[in-house]
Formats: sequence, structure tokens, C-alpha cells
Amino acid sequence: MSVSGSELLVAITGASGSVYGLRLIERAAPLVRRISVVVSRAGARVIAHEMGTPFDLEQPSLRAFLGRDPDNVRFHHPDDLFAPCASGSSAPDAMVVVPCTMGTAARIAAGIAEDLIGRAADVVLKEHRQLILVPRETPLNLIHLRNLTTLAEAGALILPACPGFYHHPRSIEELVDFVVGRILDHLGLPNPQARWGEE
Ligand SMILES: Cc1cc2nc3c(=O)[nH]c(=O)nc-3n(C[C@H](O)[C@H](O)[C@H](O)COP(=O)(O)O)c2cc1C
Repeated sequence: MSVSGSELLVAITGASGSVYGLRLIERAAPLVRRISVVVSRAGARVIAHEMGTPFDLEQPSLRAFLGRDPDNVRFHHPDDLFAPCASGSSAPDAMVVVPCTMGTAARIAAGIAEDLIGRAADVVLKEHRQLILVPRETPLNLIHLRNLTTLAEAGALILPACPGFYHHPRSIEELVDFVVGRILDHLGLPNPQARWGEE
């Protein structure tokens, strides 16, 4: 399946690794018609902590992180249950939660749709669209494992933020791009990343 020419929803929650979500938006923006972006309250705080630049949920912008705001990126406040992606009639073709906290994974697994991220994920699953979760936690307790299993059984793809090392990464950017490249692969979007077994 490919979301090329379609609508992608990227949710950034408050797990370590907000750079993965920001980099996915940067790489996917030229490849899809539109990207809707939702950052959780905790996500905004972790972005500020890890990237060293505040992310204002009331006046969202990617300029400080990507150097510009891509024309086809639309932001939605995490409390905005009136956003299009909150309805099955306007569901995105695919949704990626990256990074995904264990709290967000638990809420989605339990069907708790109180904020836009939980509701949009609920909608994506009920409409049989693509849901990719990129959890970042270690170690995992039994509750985490059970929730991730429930989500996989419901049709979500669990794609942990676990970069490989067989491509001999020389920078953090290459490690980040390894994970983002795997997400692009599953979205059916072009990913020029070198692959195992290729020159
Ligand atoms: C700096 C920082 C790093 C965190 N990293 C993780 C993490 O890697 N995984 C995780 O599940 N929670 C992590 N948390 C905890 C979540 O942010 C917290 O559970 C929050 O309530 C999740 O809310 P959200 O799911 O709405 O974003 C972290 C918190 C902070 C402050």
C-alpha cells in the first residue's frame, strides 16, 4: 500500500525521540498530498527538552526545526476533537504515532478517545486504514507488552524505534534515518536508504 498522493497523519507524543517524528514530517512532506500533525502536550515538552527549541501548541510551527513550514502541513491542537481526522468520514489514509509513549499505546489499545491522537487512532483502526506505532520504551513491562499485542491484533503495525547498526552509521542523523526509512517503506513511499544485500 502507498500513501503517495494521499493524506498522512503524524502524531508526536511525549516519548524520547521526538527527532524521529520531526524527521518523518520533513522526509514525507514532499511525497504526500497533505500531512496533518498533532503533538501531545507531553510531546511538546519533550520536543523542547530534546531539541532545545520550544514547540508552541497554540502557535505551532516547524520553522525552528526544519528551516521552514512545508506548505502541505496542517497542525491540529491535541484537544481539537472537531479536526477532520476525528471523523471516519475524513480519516487519513495512514497515521503514524512517532515516537509513541506507552501511555498513548495504552489509551489507543483501550479505545480511550479523549484527545485527538486517541480519537484519530480509533478512527484509523475502525476505518481499516494504516496505523503505525513507533514505541520508545525500555525495558517493557507486561502491561506494555499486552497493550502492544492488543494493538497488533487490532491491525496496527508496531515498528519500534530500534535502529540497526549493520549499515555502519556514522552519525545520529543516520541512526534516525534508519528508523524513518523503515516507516517510509511501510507507507509505500520512496526511501533511497541503502538496504541489506545491496551495494
Ligand atoms: C524527557 C522525557 C522523556 C520521556 N520518555 C518516554 C519514553 O521514552 N517512553 C514513554 O513511554 N514515556 C516517556 N516519557 C513519559 C511520557 O512523556 C508521559 O507518560 C506522558 O504523560 C505521555 O503523554 P502522551 O502519551 O500524551 O504524550 C518521557 C517523559 C519525559 C519528560
